[in-house]
Amino acid sequence: MFCHSDPSGCVRKTDFETSQNYTTTTVALVTSSSDNKVNVMSAEWSIRVSIDPFLIGLLVGYERETYKLIKDSGEFGLSYCSDMQGDLAHIAGNYSLKDTDKFGIGKFKTFPSKYINAPLLEGSISNYECRVIDEFEMGDHAAFVGKVLEGYYDDERKPLVFHHGKFFHLGERIKK
Ligand SMILES: Cc1cc2nc3c(=O)[nH]c(=O)nc-3n(C[C@H](O)[C@H](O)[C@H](O)COP(=O)(O)O)c2cc1C
Repeated sequence: MFCHSDPSGCVRKTDFETSQNYTTTTVALVTSSSDNKVNVMSAEWSIRVSIDPFLIGLLVGYERETYKLIKDSGEFGLSYCSDMQGDLAHIAGNYSLKDTDKFGIGKFKTFPSKYINAPLLEGSISNYECRVIDEFEMGDHAAFVGKVLEGYYDDERKPLVFHHGKFFHLGERIKK
């Protein structure tokens, strides 16, 4: 890390890895299922990438068990965390199906999807059922493009905010 001073005199710290801590996202619980296995993984890297058709891009590391299950099944579920689901986002993002049954150690309550085999999470702010229509290599992650088959929401819940490696509640609205 070193300091950078631009011509206006503004001084800022320079380090592209650390700078990533200053972005703000939310977290989705990605559900996947194949060959009698069901898994859940946390992902901050998912976003809508097309309005019509409704497509969502999801980035998954090749070494994740979730990668294998999505690759095999061609489907995934997304359950965007409410601010009551920080504990689940922690478990889903820090344990792997390689050695842990995450559903066994966390209070993951699911409901069945209509169009895909993987279930979705109760208590989330929104959920999507997605069918993979494309996959790209993005450096060390696979970018899955999912066509949204169904969407759900709960307007009583507030989103989980992920910033600087920690979970937060959404703050107050800023007036224009
Ligand atoms: C808050 C949070 C966000 C994460 N976001 C992503 C992500 O967008 N993509 C990804 O591949 N891994 C992400 N991870 C890491 C995976 O969730 C983690 O490696 C998980 O253990 C993979 O589980 P699996 O091997 O059972 O699929 C994230 C982890 C946390 C805690």
